[in-house]
Amino acid sequence: MRLLQVAPAMPENAAPAIRADLLAGLSAAPATIAPKYLYDALGSRLFAAITELPEYYLTRTEAAIFAEHQDAMAAALGLSATLVDLGAGNCEKAARLFAALRVRRYVAVDISLHYLRESLENLQQKHPAIEMLGIGLDFSQSLRLPAEVGTEPRTLFYPGSSIGNFTPDEALVFLRQAHAECCGGSLLIGVDLVKPVDVLEAAYDDPLGVTAAFNRNLLRHLNRLAGTDFDITDWHHVAFFNGRESRIEMHLQALRDTTVRWAGGERRFAAAERIHTESSYKWRSEDFAALLESAGFLRPRHWCDARGWFAVFAAPA
Ligand SMILES: C[S@@+](CC[C@H](N)C(=O)[O-])C[C@H]1O[C@@H](n2cnc3c(N)ncnc32)[C@H](O)[C@@H]1O
Repeated sequence: MRLLQVAPAMPENAAPAIRADLLAGLSAAPATIAPKYLYDALGSRLFAAITELPEYYLTRTEAAIFAEHQDAMAAALGLSATLVDLGAGNCEKAARLFAALRVRRYVAVDISLHYLRESLENLQQKHPAIEMLGIGLDFSQSLRLPAEVGTEPRTLFYPGSSIGNFTPDEALVFLRQAHAECCGGSLLIGVDLVKPVDVLEAAYDDPLGVTAAFNRNLLRHLNRLAGTDFDITDWHHVAFFNGRESRIEMHLQALRDTTVRWAGGERRFAAAERIHTESSYKWRSEDFAALLESAGFLRPRHWCDARGWFAVFAAPA
């Protein structure tokens, strides 16, 4: 197992550009912090816990679609020995597909470098015959894989509806880059679909408060990355479905008037003012198929669960 860090992945000693990005977002009105900053090592663990919650239907539903249709997916994708997992997290979803996709080389890409190392070391022990490469990379600005990945056709794997963190325009740009990075291979991608609002909102605001902890942990991460002095007890988690934009929004809302300070600056927040921390767009399957074709993918096929809550698309480049 090898691990590469490609700037600007998220080390604990943040680069000045990351600090500047964060402070600009914090100073804006309304304040916005990109969802990639939710994933420090604790954030990655909290996300793994979210996937176990009964309300978080996404992971379970997607896993059931993979389990039922993996052979058809493998046929639709064509054979590539290399599987590139974008936002690999604990790498568990990809590992369940190793046999069906006949993976000989696994490339796990994630911004959360320490968690990636740990996940990949564990996985390598379970699959000693598969060559593994970890890449610490922030692909939100540009998805450009390093030369070490090689030039052979590969399957890009982007599960969990992480594509939903991008606006539709950003998603198109990202998918065009993904198309180029397939090197003539294919894409396997999980997409969350529009569904009843109560189901969506419960998935992002669970009664146990795990999603709230995941969101509020962002402030501790900011304190380390940008030298801010957030007191997390001043903030609470808010999540709701914005029907006009077809997206779940997560925010942190000030419980009282509060001022956040950092070297050389400060930002005052009035009680009830919010910081927008994540959007998760929900798609209709026909619109997502059209988006894939606009990005250059050919004849996308997709599989859904019986309730039509989640779709997995396979698309040759
Ligand atoms: C919603 S989780 C999905 C994890 C796993 N793939 C799954 O489906 O359960 C998103 C993952 O993408 C990673 N991630 C988020 N933004 C990223 C970025 N800009 N570049 C690279 N990785 C990113 C996070 O660290 C996290 O592991």
